[in-house]
Amino acid sequence: MPRTIIEPFRIKSVEPIRWTTRQEREKLWRAAHYNVFLLPAADVLIDLLTDSGTGAMSTHQWAAVMEGDESYAGSKSFDRFRASVQDIFGYRHVIPTHQGRAAERILFGVMCKKSDVVPNNTHFDTTRANVEFVGAEAIDLPCPEGKQPSAKHPFKGNMDVVALKELIGRVGRERVPLVMLTVTNNSGGGQPVSLENVRAVSTVCREHKIPLYFDACRFAENSYFIKLREKGHEDKTPKQIAQEMFSYGDGCTMSAKKDGMANIGGFLCTNDDLLAQQEKDLLILTEGYPTYGGLAGRDLEAIAIGVQEALEEDYLRYRIASTAYLGNHISEQGVPIVQPPGGHAIYLDARAFLPHIPLEQFPAVALAAELYLEGGIRSVEIGRLMFGPAAKMDLVRLAIPRRVYTQSHIDYVVEIILEVWKKRNSIRGLKLTYEAPFLRHFTARLEPYGS
Ligand SMILES: Cc1ncc(COP(=O)(O)O)c(C=O)c1O
Repeated sequence: MPRTIIEPFRIKSVEPIRWTTRQEREKLWRAAHYNVFLLPAADVLIDLLTDSGTGAMSTHQWAAVMEGDESYAGSKSFDRFRASVQDIFGYRHVIPTHQGRAAERILFGVMCKKSDVVPNNTHFDTTRANVEFVGAEAIDLPCPEGKQPSAKHPFKGNMDVVALKELIGRVGRERVPLVMLTVTNNSGGGQPVSLENVRAVSTVCREHKIPLYFDACRFAENSYFIKLREKGHEDKTPKQIAQEMFSYGDGCTMSAKKDGMANIGGFLCTNDDLLAQQEKDLLILTEGYPTYGGLAGRDLEAIAIGVQEALEEDYLRYRIASTAYLGNHISEQGVPIVQPPGGHAIYLDARAFLPHIPLEQFPAVALAAELYLEGGIRSVEIGRLMFGPAAKMDLVRLAIPRRVYTQSHIDYVVEIILEVWKKRNSIRGLKLTYEAPFLRHFTARLEPYGS
């Protein structure tokens, strides 16, 4: 096998991106109140804000879009969507939703009540918010290695199984309506969960008759990490690994904007007939009829093909290698990142990158701003602006959209990060001038310190 890993596609349709000068970017940044979230996308050269819904669809997906059956009830597109999802996930009921958080709202709305407790390896922010919205408590139980940014471990996304047993023993089985496992662990640096850990969590759940649900957004990347890193699985296909993983659970939530390879969509799966009925009743109230759930027939077609394409080995080899390519090229030059590189993103450790900026002056916001000023790259702060003083780390996430950028784009990103690394001592912190009462990072306004 040749060593060079290439993009396993050729480009049929192109979307121009716009160059700007540093002077222009300084003006644009000022007009965006010094928050890169508020920049118009047209003024960004390489957009690494998120991998959610930003991927490129394949020719097969676009062809399937034309087959979309837009009937209100019982469309052929729903049958194709359900068959494809069941082929991989194996659950009895498949309920479409407009995106992942809608599946979460319905799941927790039906399964949880006030003072319940929901353990997860690490809740994503919308997952946590939807658990808390119904009055339950969201508890993160990452394994110890998952809490150390620089520690190298093959499965830093694992759940701490001892802590799970201890929690169930302490609060009582009746207060734990379900356990969740997020694959890969997005808030924990895009790190994978091993099959051994899935089996161990499932065993604890079955002993206590607690259903196990997956937050399955990046199930294909997780399956490929298992193939690469877990003994005994090297000869299996990613699809076989995914099928085995899901067989240890009772259902899942899914945002098809990630490993569904679609621009919009999601679903909720369960093996429980009674729950499925309650979930569909709630779906009709808030999302739509159970054969479309807030999506167009054409979206269902794109997802039916996308979940299968996400498991193709050529694609996954390129996906994981190209993310690692970015991480390795900058960390070799001393740039501090969360190790090892995850599946969908590289996370810069801003506290180590800019130790001279006090935490109250948002080092990760300052670093994200400098990446934009230096080279028109947009990223996102995951730190004190997002979580307040409770933030345990200050990270800049560079999320890679699926099948969108080529190696030369990534080489450019490496060059810009290394330029910023060279001039790191001259970067200044920022202060807040406006904050919304919740989720302040989306709309915050700031200004450079001392200006
Ligand atoms: C792990 C995880 N769960 C849930 C979600 C929510 O999905 P959506 O954005 O489609 O609502 C996301 C989105 O980024 C995610 O990464």
